[in-house]
Amino acid sequence: MKRQILYTLAIALILFGAYATVRKTELASCVAYGLGGFREVAAERSKRFLGKVADEDTARCRGGEKAVRWRRTPWVDWQKYWAAAGNDSRATGLTSKLGFFSPNQRGIDGALLDLEYQRIELIKFNLFDNAGTFEQYIRGRSGTPGRSLKTWPQMRLPKDHPFYASIGGDGRQKCMGELIRFRNLTGICNDIMNPLMGSTDQPFARNVEFDTTFPDLGKNEIVRNRHGGRIGLRKPDPQVISRKLFTRAQSSANKCNDGWGLPGYSPEANCDYQKAEFFNVLAAFWIQFMTHDWFSHLDEGHNQSAMQEMGCSTQRVNNAERSLTPDEVKQLGCRPEDRVDKSYVAEDGPPATFIYENKQYLTRAPKTTLNTVTAWWDASQIYGYNETSQRRVKRDPRDSAKLLLEPISARPQNRMGYLPVLGPTDPMNPQWAGQEAVAFPDNWSVGLSLFHNVFAREHNLFVDAFHRQAQETPEVDSGLRNPAAPDAIIKYKDVTADELFQVARLVVAAEIAKIHTIEWTTQLLYNEPLYLAMNANWAGLAGQYGMVAAALEKVINHFSKSDNDKKNAGWYSVFATGPGIFGLGNQNQDINAGVNHFGSPFNFPEEFVTVYRLHPMVPDLIEFRELNKDPNTVKYKIPVLETMRGKATQMMRRYGIANWALSMGRQRLGKLTLLNHPLFLQNLSVPRLKSATGKIDVLALDIIRDRERGVPRYNEFRRQYGLKQLASFDDFIDPSLPKDSRERARQQQIVDLIREVYGQHQCDASKHITNAQLNNDRSEITDCLGHPDGSMVDNIEDLDTVVGWLAESARPHGFAISETQFQVFILNASRRLFSDRFFTSSFRPEFYTNFGVKWVHENGPDGVMMEKNRVNGNQIEVSPLKRVLLRTIPELAPELRHVANVFDPWARDRGEYYSLQWKPRPGAESDVAFKTR
Ligand code: HEM
Repeated sequence: MKRQILYTLAIALILFGAYATVRKTELASCVAYGLGGFREVAAERSKRFLGKVADEDTARCRGGEKAVRWRRTPWVDWQKYWAAAGNDSRATGLTSKLGFFSPNQRGIDGALLDLEYQRIELIKFNLFDNAGTFEQYIRGRSGTPGRSLKTWPQMRLPKDHPFYASIGGDGRQKCMGELIRFRNLTGICNDIMNPLMGSTDQPFARNVEFDTTFPDLGKNEIVRNRHGGRIGLRKPDPQVISRKLFTRAQSSANKCNDGWGLPGYSPEANCDYQKAEFFNVLAAFWIQFMTHDWFSHLDEGHNQSAMQEMGCSTQRVNNAERSLTPDEVKQLGCRPEDRVDKSYVAEDGPPATFIYENKQYLTRAPKTTLNTVTAWWDASQIYGYNETSQRRVKRDPRDSAKLLLEPISARPQNRMGYLPVLGPTDPMNPQWAGQEAVAFPDNWSVGLSLFHNVFAREHNLFVDAFHRQAQETPEVDSGLRNPAAPDAIIKYKDVTADELFQVARLVVAAEIAKIHTIEWTTQLLYNEPLYLAMNANWAGLAGQYGMVAAALEKVINHFSKSDNDKKNAGWYSVFATGPGIFGLGNQNQDINAGVNHFGSPFNFPEEFVTVYRLHPMVPDLIEFRELNKDPNTVKYKIPVLETMRGKATQMMRRYGIANWALSMGRQRLGKLTLLNHPLFLQNLSVPRLKSATGKIDVLALDIIRDRERGVPRYNEFRRQYGLKQLASFDDFIDPSLPKDSRERARQQQIVDLIREVYGQHQCDASKHITNAQLNNDRSEITDCLGHPDGSMVDNIEDLDTVVGWLAESARPHGFAISETQFQVFILNASRRLFSDRFFTSSFRPEFYTNFGVKWVHENGPDGVMMEKNRVNGNQIEVSPLKRVLLRTIPELAPELRHVANVFDPWARDRGEYYSLQWKPRPGAESDVAFKTR
């Protein structure tokens, strides 16, 4: 293969020898890079890729001199490759026509390879199960290496489980019969050999070594060296962090009124916030809708009954911690009397230890917590995750295959209906009174109401369409099978209401996963490599991306032959990029054959929750528009506070789902950055807590909860995830900014604030602070982080992870999130597809019916539809959420005509090649939103 590459590059060199010196150098670098071949996957943790290519040649070949310069920064290299950013990152002229060898293709392929290396290493080094399987993962079992284990005794149903006997009891447990047909309420039997995996109330996993968790407990010398006794549950003070580093500055405090706006929802109200040009408010509520499906630490909206303080008591002044004076409290606006319930803890006794190959390991983290919903992407926020939540889910008494949607008097013309309100016999936390009845009702707002109503409607539309199919072709095989009689055909007319309800749930969950993977995420990470990568995750790299697929296949072959990784037979699954993960193995007779857990049972890690603390995305005021008046006019500015809990339901019904979709579709969401959190969340009223203030600062709570759950602080977090550490707070300043730019000055101000809050200390180079990485010269990383011994260094090791990733300003093009968050997603977003039988080998007609499989593949009942215009140079299907909205809120059709991705602000002109411009599309020139930055 090397010879082939050399040969082709030599021809390329001759062909382009006449070009400018820079190009010549680049081509020479490409030859050198080609000769070097692919790097090996790191055999040990301290030799990881870190998102940085090994040499200048590789960087130059993929991105020219700007990529070479970027190698010196801590941030991932691929963002500076050719064509990986906006239009100006693309090479033009003759070389750009060279297909596979064009700079643009080299850049994109290089970026995809880097992402793939990251994923391989993340799977290899970052799986730490808290359910008791970790020792087997390290030691292996009965001759099988740990990473190749596929079943675990800890994933068996316990004796007191109602289905214990039916799946094998004390003997070999294997799910059978009705238990394998559909998504079960509590998530059991998704993997038929590991019935308990991913089910409700299983422990959150970790992605970081256990002995790096709970750093404030100072359990080992390295952790003590790292933090020098400077950190604790309320150290640095969480409310002070919130007020100094999170607060949105206001140009006119009166017009914002702490997020309450002006009387009568006057459009004159204004709460300033930094806006993301290419992501809308629908996207903010979408991700909250998703997280309610994936994880929760609370039980029915409660934590423990014991209460705790929330800070507002100390701050650092001149690098020394001291108590706040009453004047300072007033000035900051924090509240020392706020109280909040303590986080639940599942296990907190000292974890057992074991020794393997002379190294001592913990068997779990010092404390564990439970995921109180199913970890599966099973739409459990809609359909339920335990008996209590299921009682809130209403089926239609006239057709029990459907969810109950009722007509409302305010909108008699709407035939699809709205979700019913929680009734007196429904189980509920009193603060949910008056809001819609859904399985997961906590932190309810009009945004969640919108998505719950949309997918309840979609469920019913699927059922209606299925009924029509059954009427038209009653005798035809539906594809569905009952494992009790697997050979018996089930005709369309014979599918029962209960079966149809469950099929609709499977279809809705798969549609949601598809929307999230190829629509939400490609807008969150708005550039070509991620567009390709996410589509590859779902459907594989085919057709026009054959070249990229071919490049990746070469790497697959390389890895599958590699001696270093013989232990892990699963490389090919890691590179599912060719066929895609969705539907992987569904031609295999074994319905469980397509899942791959990579040796560690699937559940989300605590660290995943941390990077989803996306509260800055929420604006304080929603710019309300009306579809049948002038959509370019903002009629009201409605505080999010007025659209919460029971008021969400009133607002939804009063103004109608179409107007809310339009309003949130047009409005930009808040940038994920410091000094940009909603004011209303700093002062959220939570009457159930019965504290003196009755309020909490949710943003201070973001900090407290992560500390309660032992998330490592920012620098170690990055090292653990295979990213480069920072040596000082100044590293947060985007190195590509000109020295005298205003943006640089702004970032410098933020850095100064971080330094004020977290402080500095005199470093001690004899203190070794991490086992995760080494310095470039293979020496140990010390408390001085490369600075001279005894010098004053920033307390960057103490930085809370949320604060750190919000401070990252050097991001890949079009990234609404930081690279640190993204690293967590690479691993866990892939795993939640790889591990789920219903997205891999059981995505087949026997479970979904033929009608359901087609619906998921074709985004609905009317066949595949293509957008007329190319989008960023790609021919694309009409997006899955656009199709869902056109069905469930048909009034939106004229507005959606202009929309290619539902999460891009609806009136924005998308321009050329991943443009981030804030410019109106034709027809929206008068939209007031374009008058402001
Ligand atoms: C009206 C808007 C919102 C409100 C009122 C709200 C409120 C809250 C509250 C009170 C908590 C703390 C629960 C606790 O630990 O005691 C919380 C946690 C959280 N919120 Fe929000 N939130 C909102 C929007 C969002 C959005 C848009 C996201 C985006 C993903 C989000 C993600 C999270 C996450 C990940 C947690 C941690 C959950 C856990 O510990 O299991 N929230 N939110």
